Amino acid sequence: MDSLDTAIARLPKVELHLHIEGSLEPELMFELAERNAIQLPWDSVEDIRRAYEFSDLQSFLDIYYAGADVLRTEQDFFDLTWAYLERCRSDKVRHTEIFFDPQTHTDRGIAIDTVIQGITRALDEGREQLGISSRLILCFLRHLSAEAAMDTLEQALPWRERIVAVGLDSSEKDHPPEKFKAVFERAREEGFLTVAHAGEEGPADYIRQALDLLKVRRIDHGVRCVEDPDLVARLVAEQVPLTVCPLSNIKLRVFDRLENHNLKDLLRAGVCATINSDDPAYFGGYIGENFSATAQALNLTLGDIERLARNAIQAAFLDAERREDLLIELDHWREKNALGCG
Ligand code: ADE
Ligand code: ZN
Repeated sequence: MDSLDTAIARLPKVELHLHIEGSLEPELMFELAERNAIQLPWDSVEDIRRAYEFSDLQSFLDIYYAGADVLRTEQDFFDLTWAYLERCRSDKVRHTEIFFDPQTHTDRGIAIDTVIQGITRALDEGREQLGISSRLILCFLRHLSAEAAMDTLEQALPWRERIVAVGLDSSEKDHPPEKFKAVFERAREEGFLTVAHAGEEGPADYIRQALDLLKVRRIDHGVRCVEDPDLVARLVAEQVPLTVCPLSNIKLRVFDRLENHNLKDLLRAGVCATINSDDPAYFGGYIGENFSATAQALNLTLGDIERLARNAIQAAFLDAERREDLLIELDHWREKNALGCG
């Protein structure tokens, strides 16, 4: 391991863009299929991995929703979340904000309580046993109707204390943020913060809509902001965080090669960019691998790595005390690197 990789391995990390259903590794998919007597459309783990060749977002989503069908019981959602938290421990993730897609499950007849109970039980144990703090973000599937999203929001209201924010994911093209203006307004009235995927495959205007109509605190992805220089200036002026997912962007062909990713340009322009893994089981890497591969492809410096980690701490939905603790941990990391500790 070179010294930058060593520094990245030791970096205290905050993850802000992770779909828990996207952390379902093929091995666990098979285990859960067997446990629940479900026939998968693949014969083996290798067969599944071979299927993970995507041409765009939709080609990925088709497989991702098929894989999620193995999740049936509270224990399944617990096991899924716990497996991700164990990865967090080895990657030195100190705080994580997890998306979940209730409609992927409620539309198959799984109760929202089953989903949330399983995930939150694992998050509670993650905090107690691993010292990893977390928040949960409910995402609406934007290819479904605004009425379905409103219904989902109402089903989630009893869990209001456990869900920090609502978000928007799934097929971006032709599903603009404005479609969900009323749902997000209601969510804000109910006390939820808001975020949204925008500018991944969709145009820069969707980022503007997310800011102006959905009043989001962060933009998920957002890399197409560069097509509108005034928008970039606004993101910098308002320090709107972008939760960028480099390996995802390559797998889904938002960029042709990691060397051509615009993350470094965004960072140098003063955008509050962060590095995240999105759907690590499908895209070939968790957050540590996203940091390492991007650092290598874009020649990031230790200063860039620190900036990315600091941005994530600033952008997280944290209370002041935990934020301060994480900033102190990051300062210790910087001091150790300055001393050249091996
Ligand atoms: N759901 C899971 N991953 C996603 C992504 N990268 N974009 C939109 N929706 C998603
Ligand atoms: Zn995503």
